Amino acid sequence: MTKAFLFAHPVKHSLSPVMHNAALQALGINAQYEALDVPPENLKAALEQLRQTDTWGVNLSIPHKQAVLETLDSISTEAKIIGAVNTIVVKNGWLEGHNTDAYGFMRSLEEAGIHVQNTDVVVLGAGGAARAVAYGLKQAGALVTVWNRNFERARVLATELDLDAFLSDDLLENAIHGSVGLVNTTSVGLEQPDLSPIPDELLPMGGENSKPWVCDIVYRPLETRLLRVARKAGIQTVDGLGMLVYQGAKAFELWTGLKPDTNLMRQVAMKELGF
Ligand code: ATR
Repeated sequence: MTKAFLFAHPVKHSLSPVMHNAALQALGINAQYEALDVPPENLKAALEQLRQTDTWGVNLSIPHKQAVLETLDSISTEAKIIGAVNTIVVKNGWLEGHNTDAYGFMRSLEEAGIHVQNTDVVVLGAGGAARAVAYGLKQAGALVTVWNRNFERARVLATELDLDAFLSDDLLENAIHGSVGLVNTTSVGLEQPDLSPIPDELLPMGGENSKPWVCDIVYRPLETRLLRVARKAGIQTVDGLGMLVYQGAKAFELWTGLKPDTNLMRQVAMKELGF
């Protein structure tokens, strides 16, 4: 049976297997998506094994998205610029790296009716997820400013992706107030419903005539503290499930050449989250 995998460490609670397996089943495809716990020291060997296996490919999650770059045979232009790979397509033993996170994120904004062209957006974080988000926003014509706890990492990201600015802590409040969009890509809030990456009072935002929005790519809990505070301030909120579903859908398409049922993928993911 053909397989696709998720390599992550730790791998617990991943929603990808239920999403992909539901989509495969709905299309009547006899294949299986399996999550494997692959510690960093085993990544190379696990990738080499793929060359001999009947597999479409792999999704990569924490902590492999950047480390994987050196083992791949080719990397898409987009993934190269972003500097991270979340999807590998295996073709005749050849490992081809892609990044579907930027697509997934932008698709989830689009679905929420948000248009970013010529608007100011602040991105919190400077890790792999931040790079994909910032790249997607920039491609869509947003004016992107990045803030990170580790300032140097924000500077490097802003320089490499040619963003509009990077912020020190004392400039963050003004930048948020002057922006229409805010995205959290840090892990703050992940399984921590009481924590937010910024003090609550830094919202609201956007000026008087704009339609401000806040997106948190964390989806566990679905409504993070950041989103709760934003909602109560009357700001449009976008949770992280859309990005998860659409990055998965794009990977599915790269592997199978078919478009999966994204409504079904969302439904099963929601069920897994307890809704
Ligand atoms: P990912 O690939 O998911 O983006 P990552 O590369 O480990 O993961 O990045 C995690 C991000 O969350 C980083 O921006 C990190 O900030 P630092 O670069 O300063 O480490 C951010 N982050 C993690 N824990 C944080 C915390 N307690 N407060 C603020 N930012 C945090």
